[in-house]
Amino acid sequence: MIPPKPPTRPNKVSLRQYAKLFKQDLLSAQPQRLYRAWMAEFRTPFFRSYLINQPDLVKTLLKDRPDDFPKSGRVSEGLRPLLGNSVFLTNGDVWKRQRRIIDPAFEGGRLRDTFPAMWDAAEASVARLANHTGKDYEIEEETSHTAADVIFRTLFSIPIEHEIASQVFTQFRDYQRSQPILNIAAFVPLPKWMPRFFSRRTKETAKTIRALIKQLTDDRMAEIKAGTAPDDLATKIMTTVDPETGETFSADEMVDQVAIFFLAGHETSASALAWTLYLMALFPDWQEKVAEEAKALTTCDFSVIRSLKLSRDVFRESLRLYPPVPMMVRQNSAPETFRERDIKSGSQMVLSPWHLHRHERLWDNPDGFDPTRWDTENGKTCARDAYMPFSAGSRVCTGAGFAMVEGVLILSMILRDYKITAVKGKDPVPVAHLTVRSKDGIWLRLEKRK
Ligand code: HEM
Repeated sequence: MIPPKPPTRPNKVSLRQYAKLFKQDLLSAQPQRLYRAWMAEFRTPFFRSYLINQPDLVKTLLKDRPDDFPKSGRVSEGLRPLLGNSVFLTNGDVWKRQRRIIDPAFEGGRLRDTFPAMWDAAEASVARLANHTGKDYEIEEETSHTAADVIFRTLFSIPIEHEIASQVFTQFRDYQRSQPILNIAAFVPLPKWMPRFFSRRTKETAKTIRALIKQLTDDRMAEIKAGTAPDDLATKIMTTVDPETGETFSADEMVDQVAIFFLAGHETSASALAWTLYLMALFPDWQEKVAEEAKALTTCDFSVIRSLKLSRDVFRESLRLYPPVPMMVRQNSAPETFRERDIKSGSQMVLSPWHLHRHERLWDNPDGFDPTRWDTENGKTCARDAYMPFSAGSRVCTGAGFAMVEGVLILSMILRDYKITAVKGKDPVPVAHLTVRSKDGIWLRLEKRK
């Protein structure tokens, strides 16, 4: 059985048709040939885009010469009102300084300290699910709730039920409805000089979210000064001194970063978890194996994560088939020659985990679900050269290690307690907004395991 894959468009369409398809969904707007191409060019009247699948070129962009391929401003635009100058949007020295302050909070050793908060969020999720057994249930709602809970508990030591946390969560939903986050400007021919308008609602929601987050960071700053701050990620980040400049984040700068942790950390993990649960419903043999392994989850002990190998293999395979961030866009700052083609500076360079992870010339059984592949030669080679759910190189996702612990833990804990099946007639259709979601949600049925 092949898990759901979106349809593709015909090879040749007019620019107008492309823009229209794109607005509906980024994935189905692409032609089939991208699953076999090493590089593809898209011409628009105002700029060119290149989709890069060839592993050594992907490496050039992300690992060897990232400074020559900064983040594309075209994609960032939709996020500015909310994220300000967050690490997700900045480039150059500003970005480097921000990473120097943020990265230590997410290092391996720190994950151990963060683990109890993740465990509590997983327990809370499993408890909530008890209210939804025996009936068709849309699981993305729950995974979204859980992932948001994880972020608030690990960052600020507060659960999602906390007044400010729950308001931020609801407001974010509104923001995404009013402003589709993956900005189409990177792909469709809007000239750069054309002003972009954010609706009043988008701006207002962004302002409300930022004001709520500011309350949290201001309170935390006061607690740090008073010596009463809990030892969580927010405290760690807000007290880390940049070794090069001797500076810490100001409370305002911290608002930008918290906004991106919330956005990048909750939408993505929610998407990954929902698709993984769906795959478990499609492949009950794997579900049973993961459930068996999950019996090891008896007490909150970080070392248990190491014993959840099958769960990790399944989660990695799910991130391959449904990478939450389907595409990333860079911009070349100087002319380049790639595959004997001259690429002008200012071109949009699209890296597509979605296509790379299903590339027909790289992967064995590219569209199939096979968590054993990671132990094969092909799987190992591709894991190195053609697998980047968290991007790669110096700009790799800050939360990659965090997300791998979170995803594996919550997946295992849910399967430890529940048996899940798919709902007939409600097969999900993958579409890409900010993250890869299902067009009409992901519907499952849960039964409590004896
Ligand atoms: C399954 C879960 C996740 C996936 C698949 C994921 C994926 C990614 C990807 C692909 C990028 C690079 C985007 C680009 O370069 O355009 C990224 C960046 C980022 N992610 Fe994640 N992410 C996940 C979870 C998290 C979590 C839990 C956090 C924080 C708590 C986080 C924080 C960030 C930040 C701050 C960046 C910006 C890094 C930079 O530009 O320097 N992510 N993520």
